[in-house]
Amino acid sequence: MKSNRLKTKLKEIEFKNPLIAASGTVGYGREYENFVPLSELGGISVKGTTKEKRLGNSSPRIAETASGILNSVGLENPGVYGFINNELPWLLEKDTNIIANIAGRDYDEYSFMAEKLNSTKVNAIELNISCPNVKEGGLSFGSDVNQVLKVVSIVRKKTNKLLIVKLSPNVTSIQDIAKAAEYAGADALSLINTLLGMKIDIKTRRPILKNNVGGLSGPAILPVAVRMVWEAKKAVKIPIIGCGGISSFEDALEIIMAGACLFQVGTAIFKDPLCPLKILKDLDLWLIENKIENISEVSGSLLEW
Ligand SMILES: Cc1cc2nc3c(=O)[nH]c(=O)nc-3n(C[C@H](O)[C@H](O)[C@H](O)COP(=O)(O)O)c2cc1C
Repeated sequence: MKSNRLKTKLKEIEFKNPLIAASGTVGYGREYENFVPLSELGGISVKGTTKEKRLGNSSPRIAETASGILNSVGLENPGVYGFINNELPWLLEKDTNIIANIAGRDYDEYSFMAEKLNSTKVNAIELNISCPNVKEGGLSFGSDVNQVLKVVSIVRKKTNKLLIVKLSPNVTSIQDIAKAAEYAGADALSLINTLLGMKIDIKTRRPILKNNVGGLSGPAILPVAVRMVWEAKKAVKIPIIGCGGISSFEDALEIIMAGACLFQVGTAIFKDPLCPLKILKDLDLWLIENKIENISEVSGSLLEW
């Protein structure tokens, strides 16, 4: 959707509106385009892409929870070459920002993918640091300040694309992690990724997910996302993209008031594929009603007690 009130910028990149489809929830956009033309969105963050093709985890890998879902898809994707050769050319024909979301198992994989993507026409790279570092004991990159410093610095050296670092909520201090990402050269942060959770079938006494645990997303996590965006905003100067449980314009406004300048919508699209259009229309109407010329004026406008 186009409206001067919704136009926004992330460094030198223009977004016709602040809504980005969250990584992993619309794949590479091919099926989603049948519901909503990608040109209606500010951008699309594509499915998390790894160095090699991955088939993902065994099923069941999605479970419904109260106001959300648990997923353990396990980064099923065609690999970075599959993305560049087969998905990107189609995506680049769409009038929207293309954000390549990358996930690695070690520093070399992140470095390799950043270098490859740097020579493509993607508009930005989003670094998913919620993955386990297999060479350093399996602890997720995103939960350790030193690993964040290292992985972001390595990727920064390989790319001059807009670099968004996507933070995991499964941490003790989001502020320490946010500061580390900024220090190491991130241009922006996106937060939050999913929260680790588990659901048990009491009849079989087994976890519903074959992977035992999964990532919780959807409306249930909105208050966590709003709190973390608010905390991160106090810690860094770089722009923040809010994400987690947004399914209405009111949700989007909460996260924007907390400090985000753009936002991502994921799980809500599963329930109502058309919801991004409604969110944008309602957001625009709210700006008109409140006599606000541009959405950027709302960012961080929270009045604290
Ligand atoms: C099925 C599914 C797959 C996802 N895959 C990825 C992924 O590949 N990379 C990533 O950074 N985030 C991934 N996410 C996380 C979302 O991008 C988003 O951060 C999270 O779901 C919270 O937003 P939401 O509540 O609006 O869905 C995935 C989420 C879901 C539900």
